[in-house]
Amino acid sequence: MRKLMLVAALGAAALAFGIGSATSQQASEVKSLRGNSPIVDLAPADTPHQNVSGRFDRAYRQQPPLIPHQIDRYQIDLKANQCLQCHDWSNAAKNGAPTLSMTHYLDRDGRQTDTVAGTRWFCNQCHVPQADAKELVENTFKPSQTK
Ligand code: HEC
Ligand code: HEC
Repeated sequence: MRKLMLVAALGAAALAFGIGSATSQQASEVKSLRGNSPIVDLAPADTPHQNVSGRFDRAYRQQPPLIPHQIDRYQIDLKANQCLQCHDWSNAAKNGAPTLSMTHYLDRDGRQTDTVAGTRWFCNQCHVPQADAKELVENTFKPSQTK
């Protein structure tokens, strides 16, 4: 029994040592998006992204559609939501805008509501203007529907 415990302790020590050295090795390879700018300096500003006209395809079924127009003049705060002036079901037709889908009129208990659900109030929590932006970190993401 004692022998078994010794073996286990040695094993745990070897594991801890192994993980420790792997982590410090990885840390030296991590590259920050700030590049080599030290924390005290300001990193160079990002180039502003240009809006792109037309509609981007959704990359996967559940994706909130990207916004195909500018949004900087539309205020959203505790009381006001200017997006609703065009997108609420009661206004959409006269503004030629797509109506919010039914999921935006379900409260958190799944009950249907006539006004937009509180969980959907801050539109830009999920929807962002589309832009022709290069990914910041190279990755292998592919849309679930490839043409
Ligand atoms: C002045 C009216 C107006 C306002 C205000 C407005 N939109 Fe739009 N929105 C439109 C129109 C019109 C379209 C359709 C454009 C097209 O088809 O090219 C659209 C399209 C969209 C779409 C794409 C829907 C889809 O199915 O692809 C999203 C998402 C969207 N808007 C979100 C927002 C958000 C979020 C706000 C507030 C920050 C907002 N809109 C404010 C008129 C408006
Ligand atoms: C919690 C995330 C979330 C929030 C907040 C949200 N949406 Fe959406 N929205 C989605 C998703 C996901 C979809 C696509 C699936 C669906 O229709 O539910 C969508 C779809 C849409 C569509 C397209 C509807 C259609 O039938 O093509 C419009 C327009 C839209 N949202 C506008 C808005 C506006 C305006 C707000 C703010 C009042 C808002 N959304 C808030 C997630 C969100």
